[in-house]
Amino acid sequence: MKKMVIEGGVPLRGEVAISGSKNAALPLLAAAIMFDDSNNELFNVPDLKDVATIRQLLVSIGAEIKDEGDRVVINTSCINKYEAPYDLVKTMRASVLVLGPLLAKYKRARVSLPGGCAIGARPIDFHLKALALLGADITMDHGYVEATAEKLKGAEISFPIPSVTGTENAIMAATLAEGTSIIKNAAREPEIDDLILALCNGGANIKRVEPSTIVIKGVKKLNRLSHFIMPDRIEAGTYMAASAITKGEVVLKNINAVHLRSVIDKLEEAGAKIRIISPSSLMIKGPKVIRSVDISTAPFPGFPTDMQAQMMALMAVSSGLCVITENIFENRFMHVAELRRLGANIKACNNFAIVKGTDHLSGTEMMATDLRASASLILAGLVAHGITEVSRIYHLDRGYEAMEKKLASLGAIISKVDAATPSNDNEVANENILAEKYM
Ligand code: EPU
Repeated sequence: MKKMVIEGGVPLRGEVAISGSKNAALPLLAAAIMFDDSNNELFNVPDLKDVATIRQLLVSIGAEIKDEGDRVVINTSCINKYEAPYDLVKTMRASVLVLGPLLAKYKRARVSLPGGCAIGARPIDFHLKALALLGADITMDHGYVEATAEKLKGAEISFPIPSVTGTENAIMAATLAEGTSIIKNAAREPEIDDLILALCNGGANIKRVEPSTIVIKGVKKLNRLSHFIMPDRIEAGTYMAASAITKGEVVLKNINAVHLRSVIDKLEEAGAKIRIISPSSLMIKGPKVIRSVDISTAPFPGFPTDMQAQMMALMAVSSGLCVITENIFENRFMHVAELRRLGANIKACNNFAIVKGTDHLSGTEMMATDLRASASLILAGLVAHGITEVSRIYHLDRGYEAMEKKLASLGAIISKVDAATPSNDNEVANENILAEKYM
C-alpha cells in the first residue's frame, strides 16, 4: 500500500504532457472484440490500473494483447469465452462495456451485474433496455446479466437521461445489427465521438446527425481497429486546477482545447489567465486572488462531474463564498469531510456544497475515497501549509498516469512512499473492501 506525501506551497511551473484518455481507452479496448482481427492496434493508451483491468478481462476471454513500442496490439481472433466475471467487474464497473461488443459479435454475453459504488448507485438499466430494443433476450441469473440474440436488429433507442457508457454499449451493439438504429438523447461526451471515429475507420457507418442524436447503419463486419486515443480532458483539467491553486504557470501539451471549454471558462471566471497556444496546447497562469465561482455539474458540454472535486479544492482557497452543485451522481461529495480536515470551510447537504474560501489550509493525514476525490486531496495538499499525507492512493492509479512524477517535474515537493501496513485482520479486510470499490 502506498501513500502520497506532499509539502505544500510551491507554485507549479513548466510543461506537462497529458496522457491518452482513460474513458476513451476503456470502450476502445472493449470495441476491439468486434473486430475479430489478429492485428488491432491502439496508440496513446494510458498506463493506468483501469486499463490493466480491461486488458485482463479481454485476455480472460481469449484475446492476446501485447505492447509493441508505443502501440498496443490486440488479437481478438481467438476469443472463445463470453463472460465478464464478478472478480473483474467488482474492481471496475466499466467492465460492463464488453456487453455490447460480445453481443454484437458473438450473440451472447454473460456479465456480472455491477453493484453500487463509492459515488452512487449507478444502475445499468439504460444499457439493458437499449440492448433489449435491439433484439437481445436479457435475463438475470445468480448476479449475472445473460444476454443472447439470434440476430440484432436496428431500433430506435431513447435514453431518459444521457448515459456515457450506456450510449457506447448501444452504439457498439447497433454497429453489427441488421438495419438502422437511432439513438436519441445520446450522451455528447467527446470520448463517444472518439469511439465512433475508430469504429467508422474500421468500416462502421455511424453519424452524429444532431448533438444528441446518433444514427447507426448496421454493417456485416468490421475490418481492423487502428486508432490514436484522444487526450484525457479530465487529467488536463486537473493539471489546470493544480496550476491555478498553486498560483503557478504551466503549459499543457497533448490536449484538445475544444474539449476543455467549460473547464477553461470556470477557471477564467476564477481569475486564471489562459492562453490557447495551439489546438493541442495551452498555458495557464494562476490568479493572485482566486475568485469564488458557483459550479453546477452537467453532461457534456456542461461542467464535468469528474472535475467537481478538483474545483472544490480550488474554491476552498478562494476569496469568497460559492455553491457547488453535483447533478450527475448522488454521493460524489466524499472529499468534503477530508478537505475539512485540512481546514477547508465546506458544508454539504444533499447535492449542494457551500464553500467559503480560506487563505490557510494546514497539512494533515487524509484518506482518498475515489479517483477524482484523490486528485482533489492532492491539489489541496499542494497549497496546504506543511506536510499532507494522502493514503489509499490506489484510487489515483486508476485514472492518473504517474501523477507524482508529473507534479514533481513541475516543481511540486511530492513523493509516493510505502504506507504502514494494516496492523490487524479487520484493517486488512477494510482496505480490501475499499480497494474493490469501483468507478
Ligand atoms: N444511469 C442510470 N442508469 C443507467 C446508466 C446511467 O440511472 O443505466 C445514471 C447514473 O446513475 C448517473 C447518470 O445516469 O446518475 C449518468 O451516468 P453515466 O451512465 O453517464 O456514467 P457512466 O457511463 O457510468 C462515465 C464515466 C465516469 C463519468 C460519467 C459521467 C467511463 C468509463 N466512466 O460513467 O467517469 O463520471 O460517465 O460523465 O466513461 C471517472 O472517470 O472518474 C468517472 C467516474
